[in-house]
Amino acid sequence: MEWNVIRLDEVDSTNEYAKKLIPDVSEGTVVVAKRQTSGRGRKGRAWASPEGGLWMSVILKPPMIDPRLVFVGALAVSDTLRDFGIGAWIKWPNDVWVGNRKISGVLTEVKGDFVIMGVGLNVNNEIPDGLKETATSMMEALGEPVDIGEVLERLLEYLGRWYKTFLENPPLVVEEVRGRTMLIGKEVRVLLDGNDLVGRVITISDDGSLILDVDGQTVKVVYGDVSVRINR
Ligand code: ATP
Ligand code: BTN
Repeated sequence: MEWNVIRLDEVDSTNEYAKKLIPDVSEGTVVVAKRQTSGRGRKGRAWASPEGGLWMSVILKPPMIDPRLVFVGALAVSDTLRDFGIGAWIKWPNDVWVGNRKISGVLTEVKGDFVIMGVGLNVNNEIPDGLKETATSMMEALGEPVDIGEVLERLLEYLGRWYKTFLENPPLVVEEVRGRTMLIGKEVRVLLDGNDLVGRVITISDDGSLILDVDGQTVKVVYGDVSVRINR
């Protein structure tokens, strides 16, 4: 993939900025900002984006809109972290965690035939007060700041590779997520809209869904606005 990087000092949200470029833009355009004033997670939840972190959105035009595309982002982040000596796991469907703290989140949005894949990765930024218990950064994990340019370079390299794998063979992407998720066998609470499910994770199926054992019944949870909490 040929990446064409647009660098901004400040923006509301790189996803919003990228959305405005569509459709007059080609696949592979990347928007990176030093800080976001209104970074967002799923369901419009706030995403803290102070200077020092990597906040970016890549514009893709896949032949089909597929929820498994979010895994491309999570795998690329996890590979990048590994290159810097940080072991991470993927929390289905869209987060990357180091131990019991979130270091990165992926937000994919669709506009027409395009997909905007937003990736937020805490690199050298401060973790805001309210998130200190639940979030971490590369700097915190390593005890020293890292070269953010190098992080971006690696991340784009891995995004290109995993996107290629996704286009050729989506189940291969899922297989890799399965191996890196740590959720399998765990008891989790899945927060669906006002309707929580507690069950043991059996697997992630090839279509990208989370398969749970809920009181002996097999239940399939499809990607959507669902959050997973580990009970034990
Ligand atoms: P969770 O990440 O709690 O499992 P989720 O994946 O459903 O839940 P999202 O809405 O996808 O949550 O992500 C937004 C959440 O991420 C916010 O509610 C906040 O708790 C957390 N968050 C916000 N900014 C950051 C950040 N810079 N680093 C880590 N976590 C953050
Ligand atoms: C999540 O865990 O909910 C996903 C968070 C995604 C944050 C990134 S930062 C770059 C891009 N711009 C945004 O406003 N959100 C994504």
